Formats: sequence, C-alpha cells, structure tokens
Amino acid sequence: MDIQSLLGGKSKALVGLDISSSAVKLVELAEAGGNQLRLERYAIEPLPRDAVTDGNISSLEAVSDAIRRAWRRMGASTKQVALALPAAAVITKKITLPAGLRELDMEAQVEAEANQYIPFAIEEVNLDFQVLGPAGTGADEVEVLIAASRKEKVEDRVAAAEAAGLKALKMDVESFASQAAFDLIKRRLPNAGKGRVVALIDVGAQMMKVNVLRDDNVLYSREQAFGGNQLTLDISRAYGMSTEEAEAAKRSNSLPDNYEHELLRPFVDSVALEISRALQFFFTSTQFNQVDHIVLSGGCAVIPGIDQVVAGRTQVTTEIANPFVGMSLSQRVRPKNLAADAPALMVACGLAMRRFDA
Ligand SMILES: Nc1ncnc2c1ncn2[C@@H]1O[C@H](COP(=O)(O)OP(=O)(O)OP(=O)(O)O)[C@@H](O)[C@H]1O
Ligand SMILES: [Mg+2]
Repeated sequence: MDIQSLLGGKSKALVGLDISSSAVKLVELAEAGGNQLRLERYAIEPLPRDAVTDGNISSLEAVSDAIRRAWRRMGASTKQVALALPAAAVITKKITLPAGLRELDMEAQVEAEANQYIPFAIEEVNLDFQVLGPAGTGADEVEVLIAASRKEKVEDRVAAAEAAGLKALKMDVESFASQAAFDLIKRRLPNAGKGRVVALIDVGAQMMKVNVLRDDNVLYSREQAFGGNQLTLDISRAYGMSTEEAEAAKRSNSLPDNYEHELLRPFVDSVALEISRALQFFFTSTQFNQVDHIVLSGGCAVIPGIDQVVAGRTQVTTEIANPFVGMSLSQRVRPKNLAADAPALMVACGLAMRRFDA
C-alpha cells in the first residue's frame, strides 16, 4: 500500500527509486504480455558515506546528485517515481471499523483512532489507510490498515527526488515493497510457498532486516545494525585503504590472497551466526519453532557460497533472492551484471511493480 499517494489518481509510467544507505537504486519494469513482466532498465549509483544514515537523508545534495546521475545513466522513459520509507519510520496498525462508511467518515474515524497511539501531534503526521477486507468478527465490520509517519521523513525523500528533477508519485514502505518483490520469488517455491514459513533476510551495508512471513502475514519483523560495512572497515584497516578503496576492491575481487581466508570467510560466518540468532529470537518470541525456507537478499547475498554457509548453520534451505528470474530482459540489461545486482534490488523492484497496482 502507499502511505500517501502524493498526487492521487493512478498513472501508468513509474520508476521504483530506493534510497538506501550505500546507493540509490532505480528499476523500471514493463508489462510484456501473458502476465509476464519485463525488466526495462535499472541503475545503481553509489552514495558517499554518511549521505544516508539510519534511513535519514543527511545530505540532500549528495543524494539528489546521485539520483540525477542514476536517472541519466539509465535513460528512463518517465520522471515519475515511487519512493519508500524505512519500516522503522512508519507506524502501522490494524483496526476494525464499521462496514459501509463513506470515505470522509472513514477518514475521520481513522484520524481519531490514530490520535490514540501516535506519539506526536497529528499535524506533524502523514496518515494513510487501506481497507483490507471484512473483519473476522462478522460482515458488519472491516479491517483497516493505518500507516503513519512523520511528515519530515516523507518530505525529505520527496525533496531529494524533486531536486534531481523527478516527480514523486507514490510513497511506500520498504518492507512492503520487498514483500511485493518476494511475491515474484514465492511463485517458484514448492507449492508456490503456500502455508510455508519463509524468512526474508536482507543483509545490506548498514542493516540486517528480518521479516518472517507465512502467506500474506508478517509473523515477525526485526532489524539490527549489521551489514557489509563491517567487512569494508576490516578491509580498510587490514590493508591501509580508505573505505572507498576498500569498498571498490571488495566488489571487484582485487584483494590480496589472504583476504578470503582472513577476512571474507569470518565475515560470512558472522552473517550466518547473526541469521541463526535472529531465527532463535523469532522462535522465542512467537509460538513458531520452525522456518521452512530462507530467502537471502541485499548486497552481501552475492558473496559466493554464502547461501551454503547460512543453510549449514541454520539447517534451513537457503536461496539467494532474484526477483527478476521469471521476467524477460530488455536488450539494455546485461544478464551477468544483473546476476550480481539483483539481490540488492528487491525494494526498487517492488516499488517499480506499483505501476501495475489497480
Ligand atoms: N560482490 C560483493 N562482494 C561482497 N560484498 C558486496 C558485493 N557487492 C556488494 N557488496 C556489499 O553489499 C553492501 C551493499 O548492499 P545493499 O546495496 O543491499 O545495501 P544498502 O541497501 O545500500 O544498505 P542498507 O539496506 O543497509 O541501507 C555493501 O556493504 C557492499 O560492499
Ligand atoms: Mg537496502
């Protein structure tokens, strides 16, 4: 859902724009007929350190410059973008309301309900809601999902897009966008993933995000400060490089022979350890005691062999996320580059899919 349809109405042309801590990422999808999607184009443009920290834009200029470069390089067919807020910046809550309310009455009710649990003044908040369907209690009530976030968080992201000459059309939530991309992956799981407990785990640059899902329900969500920046710092210390040099060397695999044994493997082990701890937390805080499948995304998921190490430690089948597997690719997209980039494009892909929303 959108927490805010900035201009309202629907429009067919839309590019997904993920502003994350290490890069801005753009994805454009098209319908290819026969219920198939085509990846038209994508771009990843690195951000300077500290331009985005903890999901906040600290340097509007650095971020909008990167967006402009990415957009030019990609050569998108539209300036309209869908953006997302980090899950931590959004409060969501399900409430039940009487069925058959008129739009205005529903808005008033949602606002009154929101006032009760949002810890800041309603004037400072962007509020949005979506009717999910009939409530379990009976046909005379509906379940409504409310999403609220501070206006400034929304405005910062919109400002970054606009400063780059783009137009923000939709504001989503990162975890919802990656779930939308995960729906594409799920189709290929045994029995289309029905009834299976799946842990969607994203290991990015700064953060590790865990979302455990069953069908369309989120059973558990947690994020912690852990990610590839840790390995970058280790590299920079060990070889006396700047963090930028360390990052580039890490990605291009151009480090001394002892790197793999002394830094990379211990890092992969620590990823697997953090994941198995996260699953333990899930088990102790819910009635569940099993996960059927792990889907690993984020830039760290491209480290060769990481899926086997995670599967070995957790004893859970693990696959690397690639939301584009069932799609056709435009000629502009190089399959080899895409294979290395796909796991880090879940959010941008989910956002790009919003153009097909009813
Ligand atoms: N080939 C590679 N080998 C090892 N690490 C890689 C490789 N490619 C990318 N990474 C690492 O993945 C991380 C970036 O991942 P990603 O793009 O998912 O992060 P992000 O979305 O910007 O961060 P976050 O989600 O934490 O805000 C960086 O730490 C980067 O060094
Ligand atoms: Mg990310």
